[in-house]
Amino acid sequence: VLHFNSSGSSLMPQPVWDAVVNHTTLEAAIGGYEAVTEASEQIEAAYDAIAHLIDCNRNEVAIVENATRAWNMAFFSIPLKPGDTVLACQAEYATNYVSLLHAAKTKGISIEVIPSDDAGQISLEALENAITPSVKLITMTHVPNNGGLVNPAIEVGHIAKQSNILYLLDACQSVGQMPINVKEIGCDFLSTSGRKFLRGPRGTGFLYMSEAALQNAEVSLLDLHSATWTACEQYEPRPDIRRFESWETNFAAKIGLGVAVSYASQVGIEKIWERIQMLTPILRSELSKIPGLTIHDQGAIKCGIVSFSVDGIDPQSICDALASYRMNVSHTPQQYTRLDMEPRNLTDLVRASIHYFNTEEEIERFCHVLAELLKNH
Ligand SMILES: Cc1ncc(COP(=O)(O)O)c(C=O)c1O
Repeated sequence: VLHFNSSGSSLMPQPVWDAVVNHTTLEAAIGGYEAVTEASEQIEAAYDAIAHLIDCNRNEVAIVENATRAWNMAFFSIPLKPGDTVLACQAEYATNYVSLLHAAKTKGISIEVIPSDDAGQISLEALENAITPSVKLITMTHVPNNGGLVNPAIEVGHIAKQSNILYLLDACQSVGQMPINVKEIGCDFLSTSGRKFLRGPRGTGFLYMSEAALQNAEVSLLDLHSATWTACEQYEPRPDIRRFESWETNFAAKIGLGVAVSYASQVGIEKIWERIQMLTPILRSELSKIPGLTIHDQGAIKCGIVSFSVDGIDPQSICDALASYRMNVSHTPQQYTRLDMEPRNLTDLVRASIHYFNTEEEIERFCHVLAELLKNH
């Protein structure tokens, strides 16, 4: 296939696929619980790989099922009270914003959305002006679901630190695509998924929570991994970050995630980002030559996600037509990034995302096929 859909779910490299298959085979051969004991080193290695990739301690990492679960575990661990304000951005992803709305309804918090600047990224000036004593959290989506924007994560981190406000970064589309260093960013929490630019298995993700943030974090969901039932009327939540994980999990996928993260580090995250930044402008430039096609990416720095629409043609039918040539792209509906799309009068878009394994020849072939399809429409 020609896979321009790493922002949906990428292609696993062979060692990741091998790790998942090998552990599943082991489970079938000796039993699932027994396989965990045998593979304990590989399972623990996943934490080391993640800590290395984002520059944190291994005890600041929880491995969970997806980015939404990681984000929710962080968000609902923050002891917010009625009257507290959360600052969000226009690029906020749907599942995060729905949780914010739910917290507004059930906990009485207020949400303030910081407008974007002329480049389409969060306005740092507006953010600074919005800081008041009631603001307890800044939440930002680093790279949105619907295009090439890269929000200024480090600059937002400076503002959060100066004002002593917690900072939750949704890095679902940026981890694996570009260098992410939690110390440099200065975030207290970071959530991401494994299946996208990290090229891990589906159903994986992780949460980074700084040791300091962990001290004040509340637990909301407990099980026998996150707590111990110490006496009939007593329980003890575990003190470390793994209290945000579940007892039952897909261990094959967890091992696969660790291998995917190590693989990305071995390829070199700077090299990955350099190549994405070399290839994606070629795609944007070739697409822009196609009559009737409009590119909608924003931001001073643009990443490997390219979103576009074509006059009078439904995005899903473009995806379907390309799929018949084994060319994978996806469509991004308005309701995934409503705060950004509605003011720009955008409905669904086609999303083509480039990773380092893509080539210039693929870009050329893709644009040629797309142009022909549109000509014959
Ligand atoms: C920016 C962003 N955040 C969060 C998510 C949710 O990720 P997951 O499906 O792993 O929960 C997505 C999914 O596409 C996303 O694009």
